[in-house]
Amino acid sequence: MTEMSYRTALVTGASSGLGRGLALWLGKRGVKVYAAARRRAHLEALAQEARATGAHIEPVELDVSHAEATLERIRELDAACDGLDLVVANAGVGGQTHALNFPWEHAKKIIDVNVTGAVATLSAVLPRMVERNRGHLVGVSSLASCRGLPHNAAYSASKAFLNTFLESLRVDLHGTGVRVTCIKPGFVKTEMTAGTQHIMPFLLETEPAVELMARAILRGEDEYGFPWQMARAVEVAKLAPNLLFDVVASKAL
Ligand SMILES: NC(=O)c1ccc[n+]([C@@H]2O[C@H](COP(=O)([O-])OP(=O)(O)OC[C@H]3O[C@@H](n4cnc5c(N)ncnc54)[C@H](OP(=O)(O)O)[C@@H]3O)[C@@H](O)[C@H]2O)c1
Repeated sequence: MTEMSYRTALVTGASSGLGRGLALWLGKRGVKVYAAARRRAHLEALAQEARATGAHIEPVELDVSHAEATLERIRELDAACDGLDLVVANAGVGGQTHALNFPWEHAKKIIDVNVTGAVATLSAVLPRMVERNRGHLVGVSSLASCRGLPHNAAYSASKAFLNTFLESLRVDLHGTGVRVTCIKPGFVKTEMTAGTQHIMPFLLETEPAVELMARAILRGEDEYGFPWQMARAVEVAKLAPNLLFDVVASKAL
């Protein structure tokens, strides 16, 4: 597989965690990166850190839950840089949505960001990428999408949506110059997992997680789950009958 090369990239959710790390990783390798999120001050700090290493990162204040504004802003960026080569829909929110006390407002927020926001991000310049016959669309899903995890109906389902959405795009785009990649991280130490009470097997620090995810993007993988130990465990969980899955999963959190 030949490695992809990019001049320009957009990474959403770049004010912290995996998105911040990926923006820096790409920037340090000569890619002009638009780093998008809501917290401008965090993005400015990232741009400054990048400048010190000679990398070019441009902050973009953007709330992806506002889908129409997201489409418009990403199209503007695409025009301004003569075509985005890589678009990474990484912005995401987690949080529990237990069935016994279902928090509608929070579930809606998860869907607005992880589903609607991701689709707006990934589809904004899709027709232009097809016209150019060049481009790479990446969605950051989760190994939590493999089955409906306890306390996580909205989050697990939002990421399962993303997996299926990306798979359909990949099939539609087969034979074109536009690639599609679905990244499925396991547990990574970021703001999202800070304060988590339950055990997080094979928890990774942000930096090695970014390295794994960035390398998979560069290789143009269709799908990439990591760390491998967690990805294997998930494969087994997918095969488990409901009776067994329900008993084990309900004791795990
Ligand atoms: N950490 C893990 O264990 C783990 C595991 C599997 C998958 N993931 C996925 O990895 C991705 C990155 O998460 P992370 O772990 O790096 O968590 P994080 O540090 O909390 O980062 C989440 C990012 O999303 C941005 N974001 C949230 N709502 C947004 C909105 N409405 N508009 C634009 N940006 C928004 C946040 O920026 P602002 O608040 O500044 O907007 C932040 O930059 C997520 O999609 C997450 O689901 C994480």
